Amino acid sequence: MILLFNALDIPSFIISYRELIIYEPLVLMVTLLQKQLTMAKSQYILPPGVVLRLENVSVVYKMPRGIARVVDNITIDIYEGKITGIVGESGSGKSMLAGAMLRAVPRPGKILGRVLFGSKSYGVVDMLSIDKERLRRIRWKEIAMVFQGAQNSFNPVIKIKDHFIDTAKAHGWNDEEAVLDKASKLLEMVKLEPDRVLEAYPHQLSGGMKQRVLIALSLLLDPYVLILDEPTSALDTISQKVIVDLLRDIHERTGITMIFITHDLPLISSLVDYVAIMYGFKIIEYMSIEELIKRPLHPYTKGLIRSIPPVHGDLSQVRPIPGVHPDPIEPPPGCRFSPRCPVAEGKCFEKHPELIRISEDHFVACHKWSMMEGFDPWEKS
Ligand SMILES: Nc1ncnc2c1ncn2[C@@H]1O[C@H](COP(=O)(O)OP(=O)(O)O)[C@@H](O)[C@H]1O
Ligand code: SF4
Ligand SMILES: [Mg+2]
Repeated sequence: MILLFNALDIPSFIISYRELIIYEPLVLMVTLLQKQLTMAKSQYILPPGVVLRLENVSVVYKMPRGIARVVDNITIDIYEGKITGIVGESGSGKSMLAGAMLRAVPRPGKILGRVLFGSKSYGVVDMLSIDKERLRRIRWKEIAMVFQGAQNSFNPVIKIKDHFIDTAKAHGWNDEEAVLDKASKLLEMVKLEPDRVLEAYPHQLSGGMKQRVLIALSLLLDPYVLILDEPTSALDTISQKVIVDLLRDIHERTGITMIFITHDLPLISSLVDYVAIMYGFKIIEYMSIEELIKRPLHPYTKGLIRSIPPVHGDLSQVRPIPGVHPDPIEPPPGCRFSPRCPVAEGKCFEKHPELIRISEDHFVACHKWSMMEGFDPWEKS
Protein backbone atom coordinates (compact mmCIF):
# COMPACT_ATOMS: atom_id res chain seq x y z
CA MET A 1 0.00 0.00 0.00
CA ILE A 2 2.76 2.39 0.93
CA LEU A 3 4.40 1.68 -2.45
CA LEU A 4 1.19 2.49 -4.26
CA PHE A 5 0.89 5.61 -2.15
CA ASN A 6 4.38 6.71 -3.15
CA ALA A 7 3.98 5.69 -6.78
CA LEU A 8 1.02 8.02 -7.13
CA ASP A 9 3.12 10.75 -5.57
CA ILE A 10 0.32 12.03 -3.36
CA PRO A 11 1.49 14.41 -0.65
CA SER A 12 1.18 12.86 2.80
CA PHE A 13 -1.53 15.23 4.04
CA ILE A 14 -3.98 14.07 1.37
CA ILE A 15 -4.54 10.66 2.93
CA SER A 16 -4.19 9.62 6.55
CA TYR A 17 -2.73 6.40 7.88
CA ARG A 18 -6.15 5.66 9.44
CA GLU A 19 -7.54 5.51 5.93
CA LEU A 20 -4.74 3.15 4.95
CA ILE A 21 -5.64 0.76 7.75
CA ILE A 22 -9.43 0.77 7.59
CA TYR A 23 -9.99 0.87 3.86
CA GLU A 24 -10.24 -2.32 1.86
CA PRO A 25 -7.56 -2.37 -0.86
CA LEU A 26 -10.06 -1.87 -3.69
CA VAL A 27 -11.84 0.98 -1.96
CA LEU A 28 -8.47 2.45 -1.18
CA MET A 29 -7.47 2.29 -4.85
CA VAL A 30 -10.65 4.17 -5.84
CA THR A 31 -10.10 6.72 -3.07
CA LEU A 32 -6.53 7.28 -4.18
CA LEU A 33 -7.62 7.73 -7.77
CA GLN A 34 -10.33 10.19 -6.72
CA LYS A 35 -7.82 12.12 -4.71
CA GLN A 36 -5.37 11.97 -7.58
CA LEU A 37 -8.10 13.46 -9.78
CA THR A 38 -8.68 16.26 -7.28
CA MET A 39 -4.96 16.90 -7.41
CA ALA A 40 -4.93 16.72 -11.18
CA LYS A 41 -7.70 19.33 -11.33
CA SER A 42 -5.55 21.59 -9.20
CA GLN A 43 -3.09 23.67 -11.16
CA TYR A 44 -0.79 24.07 -8.15
CA ILE A 45 1.70 21.74 -6.48
CA LEU A 46 3.15 21.82 -3.00
CA PRO A 47 6.34 19.98 -2.05
CA PRO A 48 5.86 17.00 0.30
CA GLY A 49 5.59 18.09 3.91
CA VAL A 50 4.43 21.62 3.09
CA VAL A 51 0.81 22.41 3.92
CA LEU A 52 0.81 26.14 3.30
CA ARG A 53 3.02 28.16 0.97
CA LEU A 54 2.99 31.94 0.78
CA GLU A 55 4.45 33.25 -2.46
CA ASN A 56 5.31 36.95 -2.72
CA VAL A 57 2.48 37.88 -0.40
CA SER A 58 1.88 41.56 0.33
CA VAL A 59 -0.94 43.38 2.10
CA VAL A 60 -1.45 46.97 1.01
CA TYR A 61 -3.60 49.86 2.16
CA LYS A 62 -4.18 53.07 0.27
CA MET A 63 -3.81 55.84 2.83
CA PRO A 64 -4.02 59.64 2.45
CA ARG A 65 -0.23 59.78 3.01
CA GLY A 66 0.54 57.09 0.41
CA ILE A 67 0.53 53.29 0.05
CA ALA A 68 1.11 51.34 3.28
CA ARG A 69 2.65 47.94 2.60
CA VAL A 70 1.95 46.27 5.94
CA VAL A 71 3.10 42.85 4.68
CA ASP A 72 5.85 43.23 2.13
CA ASN A 73 6.53 40.50 -0.40
CA ILE A 74 6.77 37.50 1.93
CA THR A 75 7.56 33.99 0.68
CA ILE A 76 7.49 31.18 3.26
CA ASP A 77 6.56 27.49 3.58
CA ILE A 78 4.64 26.21 6.59
CA TYR A 79 5.45 22.59 7.38
CA GLU A 80 2.71 20.04 7.94
CA GLY A 81 2.34 18.69 11.49
CA LYS A 82 4.88 21.18 12.88
CA ILE A 83 4.53 24.20 15.14
CA THR A 84 5.81 27.43 13.62
CA GLY A 85 6.26 30.58 15.68
CA ILE A 86 5.98 33.97 13.98
CA VAL A 87 7.77 36.47 16.19
CA GLY A 88 8.24 40.22 15.91
CA GLU A 89 7.68 43.45 17.74
CA SER A 90 4.32 45.18 17.81
CA GLY A 91 3.37 46.67 14.42
CA SER A 92 5.75 44.46 12.41
CA GLY A 93 2.89 42.94 10.37
CA LYS A 94 2.27 39.62 12.15
CA SER A 95 -1.54 39.89 12.36
CA MET A 96 -1.76 41.13 8.79
CA LEU A 97 0.32 38.15 7.66
CA ALA A 98 -1.98 35.77 9.55
CA GLY A 99 -4.98 37.49 8.01
CA ALA A 100 -3.48 37.08 4.55
CA MET A 101 -3.21 33.30 5.10
CA LEU A 102 -6.98 33.12 5.51
CA ARG A 103 -7.83 35.95 3.11
CA ALA A 104 -9.18 37.87 6.06
CA VAL A 105 -7.45 41.23 6.42
CA PRO A 106 -9.39 44.29 7.62
CA ARG A 107 -11.06 46.27 4.83
CA PRO A 108 -10.02 47.90 2.58
CA GLY A 109 -6.70 46.04 2.59
CA LYS A 110 -5.67 44.25 -0.61
CA ILE A 111 -3.75 40.98 -0.52
CA LEU A 112 -1.32 40.34 -3.37
CA GLY A 113 0.62 37.21 -4.32
CA ARG A 114 -0.41 33.58 -3.75
CA VAL A 115 -1.35 31.58 -0.66
CA LEU A 116 -1.24 27.91 -1.66
CA PHE A 117 -2.99 25.54 0.73
CA GLY A 118 -3.11 21.73 0.58
CA SER A 119 -6.84 21.29 1.09
CA LYS A 120 -8.14 17.79 1.85
CA SER A 121 -11.32 18.57 -0.07
CA TYR A 122 -10.08 20.50 -3.07
CA GLY A 123 -6.40 19.63 -3.57
CA VAL A 124 -3.91 22.49 -3.63
CA VAL A 125 -5.77 25.80 -3.87
CA ASP A 126 -4.79 29.45 -3.95
CA MET A 127 -6.68 30.91 -0.99
CA LEU A 128 -6.57 34.32 -2.64
CA SER A 129 -8.37 33.24 -5.82
CA ILE A 130 -10.75 30.37 -4.90
CA ASP A 131 -14.47 31.10 -4.87
CA LYS A 132 -16.08 32.28 -1.66
CA GLU A 133 -18.00 29.05 -1.03
CA ARG A 134 -14.82 26.95 -1.04
CA LEU A 135 -13.05 29.52 1.08
CA ARG A 136 -15.90 29.38 3.61
CA ARG A 137 -15.67 25.58 3.75
CA ILE A 138 -11.90 25.62 4.20
CA ARG A 139 -12.03 28.15 7.03
CA TRP A 140 -12.73 26.41 10.37
CA LYS A 141 -13.06 22.94 8.82
CA GLU A 142 -9.51 22.84 7.48
CA ILE A 143 -7.76 25.97 8.78
CA ALA A 144 -9.00 27.63 11.95
CA MET A 145 -7.76 30.83 13.50
CA VAL A 146 -7.96 32.31 16.97
CA PHE A 147 -7.80 36.03 16.19
CA GLN A 148 -5.84 38.48 18.33
CA GLY A 149 -8.05 39.78 21.17
CA ALA A 150 -10.82 37.31 20.28
CA GLN A 151 -11.59 36.74 23.94
CA ASN A 152 -13.30 40.13 23.89
CA SER A 153 -15.51 39.08 20.99
CA PHE A 154 -17.68 36.56 22.88
CA ASN A 155 -21.32 37.61 22.82
CA PRO A 156 -21.88 38.54 26.49
CA VAL A 157 -25.55 37.56 26.54
CA ILE A 158 -25.23 33.99 25.27
CA LYS A 159 -23.88 31.00 27.14
CA ILE A 160 -20.67 29.25 26.11
CA LYS A 161 -22.66 26.22 24.91
CA ASP A 162 -24.53 28.44 22.45
CA HIS A 163 -21.24 29.73 21.06
CA PHE A 164 -20.38 26.12 20.19
CA ILE A 165 -23.86 25.43 18.76
CA ASP A 166 -23.89 28.64 16.69
CA THR A 167 -20.42 27.97 15.30
CA ALA A 168 -21.44 24.44 14.28
CA LYS A 169 -24.68 25.67 12.70
CA ALA A 170 -22.83 28.31 10.71
CA HIS A 171 -21.03 25.38 9.07
CA GLY A 172 -24.10 23.23 8.49
CA TRP A 173 -23.80 21.00 11.59
CA ASN A 174 -27.24 21.11 13.24
CA ASP A 175 -27.19 18.11 15.61
CA GLU A 176 -26.99 20.04 18.90
CA GLU A 177 -26.52 16.95 21.04
CA ALA A 178 -23.54 15.79 18.99
CA VAL A 179 -22.10 19.31 19.01
CA LEU A 180 -22.32 19.56 22.81
CA ASP A 181 -20.81 16.11 23.15
CA LYS A 182 -17.86 17.17 21.02
CA ALA A 183 -17.65 20.52 22.86
CA SER A 184 -17.43 18.65 26.20
CA LYS A 185 -14.57 16.50 24.94
CA LEU A 186 -12.72 19.54 23.64
CA LEU A 187 -13.24 21.45 26.89
CA GLU A 188 -11.84 18.49 28.76
CA MET A 189 -8.86 18.53 26.42
CA VAL A 190 -8.19 22.18 27.36
CA LYS A 191 -8.55 21.20 31.05
CA LEU A 192 -11.89 22.92 31.74
CA GLU A 193 -14.94 21.43 33.44
CA PRO A 194 -17.42 20.99 30.57
CA ASP A 195 -20.61 20.99 32.65
CA ARG A 196 -19.80 24.21 34.39
CA VAL A 197 -18.25 26.04 31.45
CA LEU A 198 -20.92 25.17 28.86
CA GLU A 199 -23.60 26.67 31.13
CA ALA A 200 -21.54 29.79 31.93
CA TYR A 201 -21.78 33.23 30.38
CA PRO A 202 -18.48 34.67 29.10
CA HIS A 203 -18.17 37.19 31.99
CA GLN A 204 -18.20 34.30 34.46
CA LEU A 205 -14.89 33.02 33.09
CA SER A 206 -11.39 34.39 33.66
CA GLY A 207 -9.27 35.60 30.74
CA GLY A 208 -7.27 32.38 30.73
CA MET A 209 -10.44 30.27 30.71
CA LYS A 210 -11.92 32.28 27.84
CA GLN A 211 -8.73 31.78 25.86
CA ARG A 212 -8.98 28.02 26.47
CA VAL A 213 -12.64 28.04 25.39
CA LEU A 214 -11.56 29.80 22.20
CA ILE A 215 -8.97 27.12 21.51
CA ALA A 216 -11.62 24.42 22.08
CA LEU A 217 -14.04 26.29 19.82
CA SER A 218 -11.43 26.59 17.07
CA LEU A 219 -11.01 22.79 17.14
CA LEU A 220 -14.75 22.04 16.90
CA LEU A 221 -14.69 21.15 13.21
CA ASP A 222 -11.42 19.18 13.35
CA PRO A 223 -9.21 21.57 11.40
CA TYR A 224 -5.73 20.34 10.64
CA VAL A 225 -4.12 23.78 10.63
CA LEU A 226 -4.58 26.15 13.57
CA ILE A 227 -3.38 29.77 13.58
CA LEU A 228 -3.19 31.46 16.98
CA ASP A 229 -2.58 35.20 16.96
CA GLU A 230 -1.12 36.36 20.29
CA PRO A 231 -3.21 33.83 22.24
CA THR A 232 -1.49 34.70 25.50
CA SER A 233 -0.89 38.44 25.27
CA ALA A 234 -3.63 39.54 27.71
CA LEU A 235 -2.77 36.89 30.29
CA ASP A 236 -0.56 36.77 33.36
CA THR A 237 2.66 34.75 33.21
CA ILE A 238 1.20 31.64 34.83
CA SER A 239 -1.84 31.54 32.51
CA GLN A 240 0.49 32.07 29.53
CA LYS A 241 2.45 29.00 30.48
CA VAL A 242 -0.76 27.01 30.97
CA ILE A 243 -1.83 27.86 27.41
CA VAL A 244 1.56 26.93 25.96
CA ASP A 245 1.50 23.59 27.81
CA LEU A 246 -2.04 22.93 26.58
CA LEU A 247 -1.09 23.64 22.99
CA ARG A 248 1.87 21.28 23.27
CA ASP A 249 -0.46 18.61 24.62
CA ILE A 250 -3.03 19.17 21.83
CA HIS A 251 -0.29 19.02 19.22
CA GLU A 252 1.07 15.77 20.67
CA ARG A 253 -2.41 14.22 20.66
CA THR A 254 -3.61 15.41 17.27
CA GLY A 255 -0.52 16.20 15.20
CA ILE A 256 -2.22 19.43 14.07
CA THR A 257 -0.12 22.02 12.22
CA MET A 258 0.09 25.16 14.37
CA ILE A 259 1.17 28.71 13.68
CA PHE A 260 1.73 30.63 16.91
CA ILE A 261 2.07 34.40 16.51
CA THR A 262 3.66 36.35 19.33
CA HIS A 263 6.04 39.15 20.31
CA ASP A 264 7.39 36.90 23.06
CA LEU A 265 10.25 34.72 21.82
CA PRO A 266 11.11 33.01 25.15
CA LEU A 267 7.47 32.03 25.69
CA ILE A 268 7.34 29.84 22.61
CA SER A 269 10.90 28.57 22.49
CA SER A 270 9.96 25.33 24.26
CA LEU A 271 6.93 24.79 22.01
CA VAL A 272 7.87 25.45 18.40
CA ASP A 273 9.72 23.51 15.71
CA TYR A 274 10.37 26.54 13.47
CA VAL A 275 10.60 30.28 14.06
CA ALA A 276 10.03 33.07 11.54
CA ILE A 277 11.27 36.46 12.71
CA MET A 278 9.41 39.45 11.28
CA TYR A 279 10.78 42.96 11.07
CA GLY A 280 9.51 45.87 9.04
CA PHE A 281 6.66 43.87 7.40
CA LYS A 282 9.09 41.23 6.12
CA ILE A 283 10.48 37.94 7.34
CA ILE A 284 14.13 38.51 8.04
CA GLU A 285 15.08 35.09 9.40
CA TYR A 286 13.36 31.69 9.33
CA MET A 287 14.86 28.63 10.87
CA SER A 288 14.37 25.51 12.96
CA ILE A 289 14.41 26.05 16.71
CA GLU A 290 17.72 24.15 16.85
CA GLU A 291 19.27 26.65 14.42
CA LEU A 292 17.84 29.57 16.41
CA ILE A 293 19.49 28.28 19.55
CA LYS A 294 22.76 27.25 17.85
CA ARG A 295 23.37 30.04 15.39
CA PRO A 296 20.99 32.96 15.08
CA LEU A 297 22.49 35.10 12.32
CA HIS A 298 20.45 38.25 11.74
CA PRO A 299 21.49 41.19 13.95
CA TYR A 300 17.82 41.79 14.80
CA THR A 301 17.33 38.18 15.92
CA LYS A 302 20.50 38.45 17.98
CA GLY A 303 19.18 41.70 19.47
CA LEU A 304 15.87 40.01 20.35
CA ILE A 305 17.66 37.21 22.15
CA ARG A 306 19.88 39.70 23.96
CA SER A 307 16.81 41.67 25.10
CA ILE A 308 15.30 38.66 26.90
CA PRO A 309 15.15 39.36 30.63
CA PRO A 310 17.44 37.04 32.61
CA VAL A 311 15.75 34.23 34.54
CA HIS A 312 16.97 35.56 37.89
CA GLY A 313 14.84 38.66 37.21
CA ASP A 314 17.49 41.40 37.34
CA LEU A 315 15.78 43.95 35.09
CA SER A 316 18.90 46.13 34.90
CA GLN A 317 20.26 43.38 32.61
CA VAL A 318 17.46 43.84 30.04
CA ARG A 319 18.86 45.48 26.93
CA PRO A 320 16.10 46.57 24.55
CA ILE A 321 16.96 47.26 20.91
CA PRO A 322 17.30 51.05 20.59
CA GLY A 323 15.30 52.91 17.92
CA VAL A 324 11.82 52.62 16.48
CA HIS A 325 10.09 50.26 14.07
CA PRO A 326 9.81 51.50 10.45
CA ASP A 327 6.78 53.20 8.99
CA PRO A 328 4.90 51.08 6.41
CA ILE A 329 4.42 54.04 4.06
CA GLU A 330 7.98 55.31 4.02
CA PRO A 331 10.25 52.44 5.09
CA PRO A 332 13.97 53.17 5.06
CA PRO A 333 15.68 52.55 1.71
CA GLY A 334 17.95 49.49 1.77
CA CYS A 335 17.73 47.08 4.68
CA ARG A 336 14.67 47.79 6.82
CA PHE A 337 16.75 47.30 9.92
CA SER A 338 19.65 49.57 8.84
CA PRO A 339 18.66 52.62 10.99
CA ARG A 340 18.87 50.42 14.11
CA CYS A 341 21.56 47.95 13.11
CA PRO A 342 24.89 48.41 14.93
CA VAL A 343 26.89 47.00 12.00
CA ALA A 344 25.08 48.62 9.06
CA GLU A 345 27.34 49.98 6.32
CA GLY A 346 27.44 50.82 2.57
CA LYS A 347 25.17 48.39 0.77
CA CYS A 348 22.89 48.04 3.82
CA PHE A 349 21.59 51.56 3.18
CA GLU A 350 20.98 50.97 -0.52
CA LYS A 351 19.47 47.54 -1.11
CA HIS A 352 17.19 45.39 1.00
CA PRO A 353 18.75 41.92 1.37
CA GLU A 354 16.65 39.03 0.03
CA LEU A 355 15.73 36.13 2.32
CA ILE A 356 18.14 33.42 1.16
CA ARG A 357 18.49 29.78 2.12
CA ILE A 358 21.83 29.20 3.78
CA SER A 359 21.22 25.62 4.94
CA GLU A 360 18.47 22.99 4.96
CA ASP A 361 16.59 24.62 7.83
CA HIS A 362 17.77 28.19 7.81
CA PHE A 363 16.91 31.30 5.78
CA VAL A 364 18.25 34.78 6.48
CA ALA A 365 18.00 38.27 4.95
CA CYS A 366 21.19 40.13 5.82
CA HIS A 367 24.02 41.30 3.53
CA LYS A 368 26.52 40.41 6.24
CA TRP A 369 25.09 37.08 7.40
CA SER A 370 28.29 35.16 6.61
CA MET A 371 30.26 37.07 9.24
CA MET A 372 27.58 36.78 11.93
CA GLU A 373 28.24 33.27 13.21
CA GLY A 374 29.84 33.57 16.63
CA PHE A 375 29.94 37.37 16.27
CA ASP A 376 28.04 39.76 18.57
CA PRO A 377 27.00 42.85 16.61
CA TRP A 378 25.67 44.36 19.82
CA GLU A 379 28.85 43.97 21.83
CA LYS A 380 29.80 47.65 21.84
CA SER A 381 26.29 49.07 22.21
N1 LIG B 1 -6.95 48.47 9.51
C1 LIG B 1 -5.72 48.91 9.19
N2 LIG B 1 -5.54 49.77 8.16
C2 LIG B 1 -4.29 50.18 7.82
N3 LIG B 1 -3.17 49.84 8.48
C3 LIG B 1 -3.31 49.02 9.53
C4 LIG B 1 -4.58 48.49 9.94
N4 LIG B 1 -4.39 47.69 11.01
C5 LIG B 1 -3.06 47.71 11.27
N5 LIG B 1 -2.42 48.50 10.38
C6 LIG B 1 -0.97 48.75 10.29
O1 LIG B 1 -0.38 47.57 9.78
C7 LIG B 1 0.89 47.38 10.35
C8 LIG B 1 1.00 45.95 10.81
O2 LIG B 1 0.00 45.71 11.80
P1 LIG B 1 -0.20 44.32 12.51
O3 LIG B 1 -0.15 43.24 11.52
O4 LIG B 1 -1.43 44.44 13.33
O5 LIG B 1 1.10 44.24 13.44
P2 LIG B 1 1.43 43.21 14.60
O6 LIG B 1 0.38 42.17 14.59
O7 LIG B 1 2.79 42.70 14.27
O8 LIG B 1 1.44 44.00 15.86
C9 LIG B 1 1.04 48.41 11.46
O9 LIG B 1 1.88 49.43 10.97
C10 LIG B 1 -0.35 48.94 11.67
O10 LIG B 1 -0.31 50.30 12.01
S1 SF4 C 1 21.77 43.94 5.98
FE1 SF4 C 1 23.14 45.35 6.98
S2 SF4 C 1 21.75 46.70 8.14
FE2 SF4 C 1 20.59 44.90 7.57
S3 SF4 C 1 20.76 43.58 9.32
FE3 SF4 C 1 22.38 42.96 7.89
S4 SF4 C 1 24.16 44.14 8.55
FE4 SF4 C 1 22.38 45.09 9.52
MG1 LIG D 1 -0.97 41.60 16.02
